[in-house]
Amino acid sequence: MNHDNNVTKDLNIGIAGLGNVGEGVINLLQENSELIEKKLQKKITIKGISAKNKGKQRNCNIDSYTWYENPLELARSKEIDVFIELIGGEDGIALEVTQTAIESGKHVITANKAMIANHGNFLIELAEKNKTLLLFEAAVAGGIPIVKLLKESLSSNSITKIYGILNGTCNYILSSMENNSIGFDASLKEAQRLGYAEADPSFDVGGFDAAHKLSILSSLAFGTTIDFSSIHIEGIEKISLDDIQAAKENGYKIRLLGISEKKLSGIRQYVEPCLVSDKSLISSIDGVNNAIVVDGNFVGEITISGLGAGSNPTASSVVADIFDVANNSTVSNLGMPIHRMKDFKITEEVIDNNQYYIRMLLPNIAGSIANVTKSMADHNISLSAINQRSDGKNNTNDYASVTIVTDVTTNISVNKVLDQIAKNGQVKGLPTIIKIQQT
Ligand SMILES: NC(=O)c1ccc[n+]([C@@H]2O[C@H](COP(=O)([O-])OP(=O)(O)OC[C@H]3O[C@@H](n4cnc5c(N)ncnc54)[C@H](OP(=O)(O)O)[C@@H]3O)[C@@H](O)[C@H]2O)c1
Repeated sequence: MNHDNNVTKDLNIGIAGLGNVGEGVINLLQENSELIEKKLQKKITIKGISAKNKGKQRNCNIDSYTWYENPLELARSKEIDVFIELIGGEDGIALEVTQTAIESGKHVITANKAMIANHGNFLIELAEKNKTLLLFEAAVAGGIPIVKLLKESLSSNSITKIYGILNGTCNYILSSMENNSIGFDASLKEAQRLGYAEADPSFDVGGFDAAHKLSILSSLAFGTTIDFSSIHIEGIEKISLDDIQAAKENGYKIRLLGISEKKLSGIRQYVEPCLVSDKSLISSIDGVNNAIVVDGNFVGEITISGLGAGSNPTASSVVADIFDVANNSTVSNLGMPIHRMKDFKITEEVIDNNQYYIRMLLPNIAGSIANVTKSMADHNISLSAINQRSDGKNNTNDYASVTIVTDVTTNISVNKVLDQIAKNGQVKGLPTIIKIQQT
């Protein structure tokens, strides 16, 4: 790609959004200015800033910068080469300023995964038309440089699978349930107290934030346009302490994974809680950390981990994108020009060969477990482990929480058994089914 507006002089930037990430970017540019200038042989100058509330106390020094009341004016300003969007939100002002900046010939850098997941194809096409860069390293996994890794270092590999822990809030909740033997609600409260979860946590715990990031990773990995809408999304709300403990007893941990894999008939993308071996690298990722595993046909398997959010790590990724602009990068925004990308094709395969973990409440009467194991045997499902958990909070005098780990079988067989058990009135409520991921 040739950019007409290649930057050969010092770089002038405008920053809209001075929250967690915006403050981090300003602090990084100020604190490391000497190092940055030495490496780039260029000066990065902040020519304008904008946020909602001018009088707000900030965790950074903005005294010497020109304040723009209206971020759209900053996006159009002739003073800047690069517009940095750190406001957030899928639509609204974030989308408007991004579009305006691109149409005004500016390079744009954003950390906004919701916007890229939903409007990335349109915005990238617009950027290519205007010969500008639209960069979003910070939109996936905070400080982890996975976008550049896929776009550049691994670009010659054919990738078959990419998966990872893409949401720090969920990972904190799950690992704290595991390490402190507390339930989901208590763990969520603790995450909120520590500032790791929002007051309304549904976006994170429901798996949507991880899905936004996964849609971007799929596109970079498989050379397909971004397709957030085809992701199957399950959150972690259903995970109980019983599940965490039963997994542990069987040599597993539970992690919310975003997985995208190439199948014969297309690509399958899903976000769901999974059991992973407690000996795997991914199971050792605790707390708010993120990790991503990429499987390439020449490089083999690579795992990259680190802080997936936070002011400083995310700022590090934003500034990495500033370096790309300053170095006149000619790498396409998604690793190849968008008109050369294939449209996303969802796989038609629905048969999933896996081991499964199942938890159900069965009547506390003789023979109820035997009935379940018989149904399993009737559908050729053999069991790797079965436990009746007597200490679970779901246990009552009438029902017991029973956990099962199957050998490899199909989702279809598992669903047939569970339908049969439900029809026979042998189970209370809906069983919890969790896939065991081979990691
Ligand atoms: N936080 C993270 O760790 C993290 C990690 C990766 C990616 N991201 C992404 O980075 C982006 C920013 O996140 P954040 O955590 O920094 O958000 P934040 O703390 O909520 O900050 C948002 C900023 O946008 C400003 N703003 C809101 N509405 C505006 C408007 N109409 N015009 C101008 N400015 C407006 C706010 O102004 P006031 O300050 O005056 O209210 C605030 O400075 C989001 O897209 C987020 O998904 C965040």
